Amino acid sequence: MIFYFSATGNTQWIAQRIASSTQDHLVSIVEASNAPTHYELKEGERLGFIFPIHGWRVPTLVRHFIEHLDINSKGHFTYAVCTCGDDIGLALDNFMPIHVDSAYSLRMPNTYVGLPFMDVDPKELQILKKSQTEQRLHVIMEEIYDKKKDIFRLDRGRFASLKTHIIGGFFEKYLISDKPFHVDATKCVKCGICANVCPVGDILGGFGKMPEWQHTGECLTCFNCYHHCPHHAIEFGNRTKNKGQYYFK
Ligand SMILES: Cc1cc2nc3c(=O)[nH]c(=O)nc-3n(C[C@H](O)[C@H](O)[C@H](O)COP(=O)(O)O)c2cc1C
Ligand code: SF4
Ligand code: SF4
Repeated sequence: MIFYFSATGNTQWIAQRIASSTQDHLVSIVEASNAPTHYELKEGERLGFIFPIHGWRVPTLVRHFIEHLDINSKGHFTYAVCTCGDDIGLALDNFMPIHVDSAYSLRMPNTYVGLPFMDVDPKELQILKKSQTEQRLHVIMEEIYDKKKDIFRLDRGRFASLKTHIIGGFFEKYLISDKPFHVDATKCVKCGICANVCPVGDILGGFGKMPEWQHTGECLTCFNCYHHCPHHAIEFGNRTKNKGQYYFK
């Protein structure tokens, strides 16, 4: 069984590739969080968690899901695969609520645009990251298929502890918020796409309606709404002015 979360599609692509190689069942963490269920694994079955890195940590949505997971399993092989734009710090060392036998990180195009110095990757870098990940994925899929234990291929990067514990803490506390989102009414055509793609239903909207963020604390700042707007009408404070858009196609 594979539990996965993906906002802009990078991780969904990886999860689908791994599921098709192992023939394991894919379960969306967002959907499973809305309908808590008891899961039974067959003896020795693979148990995978696949998700993006947010602020050098495992996203809170994923952490809470794992912490409350009601699962029966015996002798299973547990692994984690995360995607990131550059590096993951100590996310999988210190913020994974379950013991994993093996873990991997894979670089994919960056989706975080919420700070002044951060933008989407140039097209050439997006292509390079995807093709390098595609190559690494073949090896990883074999290792997961064979249930190889004690393999930790992680891009922890420099200053890993500082990033995860100090900057990551600040990020989680102060930067995960939907309050800065606003819409340029002269560009918005009320198509409803932003509301439809929000993984946590944080946007009140739909066809014919101007989107409104609900400020309920649910927003993950995944930027899926921003990246999918066909008219680039969504801004995050003044931090996204003239920045690019990206989602996995
Ligand atoms: C809120 C947020 C925080 C992020 N933090 C990191 C990070 O700490 N390190 C990193 O390398 N990439 C970071 N990224 C980039 C994503 O991890 C990366 O683009 C990922 O592949 C997106 O996956 P998805 O398309 O499945 O949502 C962040 C992206 C978002 C939206
Ligand atoms: S996706 Fe863009 S154009 Fe469509 S409703 Fe949302 S803000 Fe408006
Ligand atoms: S409101 Fe936008 S940034 Fe927040 S969770 Fe929804 S899609 Fe992601």
